[in-house]
Amino acid sequence: MDQRKGRRLVLFPLPLQGHISPMLQLANILHSQGFTITIIHTSFNSPNPSSHPHLTFHFIQENLSASEASTDDLVAFVSLLNTKCLVPFRDCLAKLLADVEEEPIACLISDALLPFTQAVADSLKLPRIVLRTGGASSFVVFAAFPLLKERGYFPIQDSKGQEPVVELPPLKIKDLPVINTRDPETLYEIVNGMVDGAKVSSGIIWNTFEDLEESALATLRQQFSIPIFPIGPFHICIPASPSSLLTQDQSCIAWLDKQSPKSVIYVSFGSIAAVSEAEFLEIAWGLANCKLPFLWVVRPGLTRGSDCLEPLPSGFMEMVDGRGHLVKWAPQQEVLAHPAVGAFWTHNGWNSTLESICEGIPMICMPCFTDQKVNARYVSDVWKVGLQLENGLKREEIEKTIRRVMVEKQGEEIRSRIFRLKEKANHCLKQGRSSFESTNSLVTHILSLET
Ligand code: UDX
Repeated sequence: MDQRKGRRLVLFPLPLQGHISPMLQLANILHSQGFTITIIHTSFNSPNPSSHPHLTFHFIQENLSASEASTDDLVAFVSLLNTKCLVPFRDCLAKLLADVEEEPIACLISDALLPFTQAVADSLKLPRIVLRTGGASSFVVFAAFPLLKERGYFPIQDSKGQEPVVELPPLKIKDLPVINTRDPETLYEIVNGMVDGAKVSSGIIWNTFEDLEESALATLRQQFSIPIFPIGPFHICIPASPSSLLTQDQSCIAWLDKQSPKSVIYVSFGSIAAVSEAEFLEIAWGLANCKLPFLWVVRPGLTRGSDCLEPLPSGFMEMVDGRGHLVKWAPQQEVLAHPAVGAFWTHNGWNSTLESICEGIPMICMPCFTDQKVNARYVSDVWKVGLQLENGLKREEIEKTIRRVMVEKQGEEIRSRIFRLKEKANHCLKQGRSSFESTNSLVTHILSLET
């Protein structure tokens, strides 16, 4: 540990919930390994530094206008960040490097979706390690974008959605990780920038573990000549980190305490995904008709064009009469760990997927965009720990799928498979096992980097 004292790491997250949380978890892991941690953060979506007293924060002024500070078009938003952060980020990092009063900086660790930081690090002669907050299996697909484009898969034709992607089994064309955007060419540029930036970095850290994504990690080790460190699941390596940007409504825990074991469906679609008003109604009716208790996160902005619970069918709460509990934002990790929760209806963001696996909670998959589609296919067809709503959002199918997972034999089989995966997730962090050893290799690698 001695050699690490006096070495500082600078971390720079993409300022979205699903990226800030794993970066701050990584900060805690590396801090517990003896490094001093400095976080550079945008002013947009900035976390509260007083919740992380052992980390030092520097906020840059990226000066997004009101209309630019919107995640409605994620592709445009990420592209803009890569442009607007350049000067303030470079100035901030140069200042940190020039500060002789502080410990020397061993390297920069930045989000894979901020590839502009590679050129900045190169210009300042600082090694850059990449944190990829999504899974390795979806990254294999992103790395194949040029080939998929050449073979005519893009733009995706809805009529071919059910056909297989022969190069990437078991994916179907509809599972390819794209997203609606005003400018599809920019999406390909961002994906290729992320992959190319990672290839020339000094290493990639993954919030995953060998037993879960062995095959994808082997593929990436073949394709990339840099070291790869699967050291997850991050959130069980360290105590819960207070990195939530929204206030978590604790009332749901008292409500869960009153429910029977494994009786509740937890429903949450993460921090960005949005549904149409018609889809919102199908979700509501599906939950009402399945006659099982549910805890539903209705985040402001979940329904496109509406900020609150207005679209709920009139009399909905009376109809579900105590069987349903709605919150704007939940303490998700606590909820998934609660004995009353029997299934998680999720959009399959990577953090949610991992959190569900780590608690052994079967999933009902409703991916919305990008990596979520690949994650959902792996959950349903590879790990077989959930069922996917394959044919759009229709109340009858929702009700049927919930019942299959919650009360039928198929659900029991899924539950025992995800329980085994949960055990592997916990096991990999023990001394001598894959993520534990990979963390040690990462520390050795960081100490070996020449600056
Ligand atoms: C985004 C992308 O959507 C996703 O595809 C990518 O993998 C990561 O970035 P997000 O939509 O926020 O992420 O989903 P997810 O990755 O699941 O992260 C959400 C986080 O918010 C989780 O850690 C979850 O525990 C937390 N959460 C969610 C809460 O604390 N409370 C809630 O009510 C809902």
